[in-house]
Amino acid sequence: MTAMKWFYSFLKKHTRGMVLGLLLVTVISVLAIVKPVVSGTIVDDVIIAGRFSLLPRLIALLIFITILRGGLRYLSQVIFETCSQDVLFAMRDTVYRKLLQEDFDFYNKKRTGDLLSRQTGDMDAIRHFIAFVIYQVYENVFLFFFALIMIFTVKWQLALCMCAVLPFTLLVTLSQRKNGRPRFQKIREQFSSLNTFVQENISGNRVVKAFSKEDYEISKFNKENDAYRDAELAAAEIWTKYVPLFEFLSNMLTIILMLIGSIMVIRGSMTLGNYVTINGYLWMLTNPLRQIGWRINDIQRFTTSVEKIYATYSEEPKVKHPDSAIPCKRLKGDVTFRNVSYSADDEDIIHNINFTVKSGQTVGILGSTGSGKSTIMNLLCRFYDVTDGEVLVDGQDVRNLDLYNLRQNIGMAMQDVFLFSDTVEGNIAYSRPDCPFEAVQKAAVMADADHFIREMPDGYDTIVGERGVGLSGGQKQRISLARALLKEPSILILDDTTSAVDMETESYIQKQLHTIGRKCTIFIVAYRISSIKDADLILVLNNGRIVEQGTHEELLKNKGYYATVFRHQYGEFETYEEILNTTDQKSSRAKSSAEMR
Ligand SMILES: Nc1ncnc2c1ncn2[C@@H]1O[C@H](COP(=O)(O)OP(=O)(O)O)[C@@H](O)[C@H]1O
Ligand SMILES: [Mg+2]
Repeated sequence: MTAMKWFYSFLKKHTRGMVLGLLLVTVISVLAIVKPVVSGTIVDDVIIAGRFSLLPRLIALLIFITILRGGLRYLSQVIFETCSQDVLFAMRDTVYRKLLQEDFDFYNKKRTGDLLSRQTGDMDAIRHFIAFVIYQVYENVFLFFFALIMIFTVKWQLALCMCAVLPFTLLVTLSQRKNGRPRFQKIREQFSSLNTFVQENISGNRVVKAFSKEDYEISKFNKENDAYRDAELAAAEIWTKYVPLFEFLSNMLTIILMLIGSIMVIRGSMTLGNYVTINGYLWMLTNPLRQIGWRINDIQRFTTSVEKIYATYSEEPKVKHPDSAIPCKRLKGDVTFRNVSYSADDEDIIHNINFTVKSGQTVGILGSTGSGKSTIMNLLCRFYDVTDGEVLVDGQDVRNLDLYNLRQNIGMAMQDVFLFSDTVEGNIAYSRPDCPFEAVQKAAVMADADHFIREMPDGYDTIVGERGVGLSGGQKQRISLARALLKEPSILILDDTTSAVDMETESYIQKQLHTIGRKCTIFIVAYRISSIKDADLILVLNNGRIVEQGTHEELLKNKGYYATVFRHQYGEFETYEEILNTTDQKSSRAKSSAEMR
C-alpha cells in the first residue's frame, strides 16, 4: 500500500459527505455566472436598449443568488469540516493503536518528539487538506474551465486567445511542484527535530539545572529553532518566487481581454454587453491562476505529512501476536529457558541461557551492570523475541502463547520506574482499575508503601506528577512494586526494585514476598546478596552468560564471583552463620517496626 492509498482508505468512508460538499460547491460556482450575465444584460438591455423595467427584476435575482450562495457555502463548509475532523479522528485512533502495538525495539529507535509530531503537526496538515484544499482546488479548476467555456459561448475567438496562457501555467505549476517537494520534506524533519529537542529538554530539565547547562541548552535550542525557521523560509522562497509568476499570468488574461476585446468592440464584432459579461467572468479565470501557487504549497505540505505518518504507521512490530495463539488465561508459572541467545544490531547480548524454575519458586539474578539481567526478563515477557533457543512458560514457547494473556499473567516492577500523572491509587490499580480500595491498600502494605502514602497530603488520592515527580526513588519503586503485586500475577518480576530502599524496608518486603511466594514464581534481579540469598535458584550473570548457578550455600562453596560479591558486601563477617544471625535480627527488627506503623 502506498501512503496515498492509505490516506484514501480513510477518506473513502466519507465519500458521500465529500461528494455532497463538492456538489454544493459546483452549484455555488455555477451560480457565480449569474452576476456577469446580469451585468451584461444591464448594459445591453437596460442601459443601451432602454428597457428600464427589467432592472428591479435583475437586481432581485442578484440579491436572491447572493443569499443562496451564502447559505450553500455555509452548508458545504460544515460538511467539509465535519468530514475532515472525522477522518482525523479515525486516523489518529488507528495510528495510536498501532503505536501501542509496537515493540520495545521500535521505541528504542524512535524519538518521542518525532512520534508526537506525527500525531499533531502532520495530522493538522491533513485536516487542512480535507477541510479546505480539496474543495478550493476543485472550485478553482471548475470555475476556470466553466468560465472558459462560457467565454467560448459568448465569443470563441477571444476565448481561444485567452487559452494562450494555459501552457505557461502548466509549466510554472510543474516547476513549482518539483522544486518545492524536497523543501517540504525538510520542514517536516526540522519540525520533528525541534519537537524532540523541546520534549527531551522538558523531561530532562532537572539534569539541565543540576549541571547548570541552561545556556548550553538555549544555544542548542536556538540552533534547532534557526534550522526550522530556515527550512520554512526555504519553502517560502519557492512560493514567493512562483506566486508573482502566477499573478503575472493572471494579469496577462486581463490584458488580453482589454486589448483584443476592445478591438473587437470597436470593430463591431462584439457587443459592449458581451465585453462586460466576459469581463465579469475574468475573475473566475484570474483568481484560480493566482491561487495555484498557494494550493501547490498546501498539497505538498499534505503529501509530505501523509508520507511521514504512513512511514511510522507501516513499521511492523517484530514481536507479533501469534496467528493461532494458545489461550492462557491463568498460567501456573513454570519457566524454562532453553539455549536462549539474544542479539540486537549484530551484537550478542545474552548467550546460551539455560535454567528451569517451577511455579512457586524464587529465582535470584545477580550480575554486574550490562550483564544481561533485564534482557532475560524482557525475553520472558516477550518484549523482545529470542534470536536462538526458546523461552517456555508452562511448557509452551512464549511465541505461541496469546501475547496479551502472557503479559497479563506477569507482574513486573521495571528497573526504570514510570508512574503516570494520576493519583497514587490510580497508579497502583493500573492493572485492575475496578478493584476495591482494600486490595490497593493491601498491595501497598505488602510493598511497604502504605504508611508513606497515607502521610501524603491527599493520601491515596494524591496526584503524582509525570514520572512520579515529588516522590523519592525508593517511594517510586515501592509504588511500582505495589502495582505489580496488585495484579496477583503467576510470575512476578522485580528488576532492581529494592535498590533504592533501605535494608530494613527491603527485608520487610522480602518477608511479604514469602507470603505470596507459593502462589507465583518470583524473579528478583538485584545487586544485594540479601535480596536473593533465600532464592531457590540463583543465577550469576557475566557478559550475557550464566557463569554460576545454584543456591546461596552452593554458590558460597563454589568460591566464584558470587562468593566474592558476598565477601565484599559482608566482609566484616567471618562465617555465614554469623550473617544469618544478624540478618535474622534485622528482619525481626523490620517486622516489629512494620507492626508499629
Ligand atoms: N534491544 C537492545 N538493543 C541493543 N542493545 C541492547 C538491547 N537490550 C540490551 N542491550 C544491551 O545489552 C546489555 C545488557 O543490558 P541489560 O540486560 O539491560 O543489562 P543489566 O540489566 O544486566 O544491567 C547492555 O549493554 C545493553 O546496552
Ligand atoms: Mg537492568
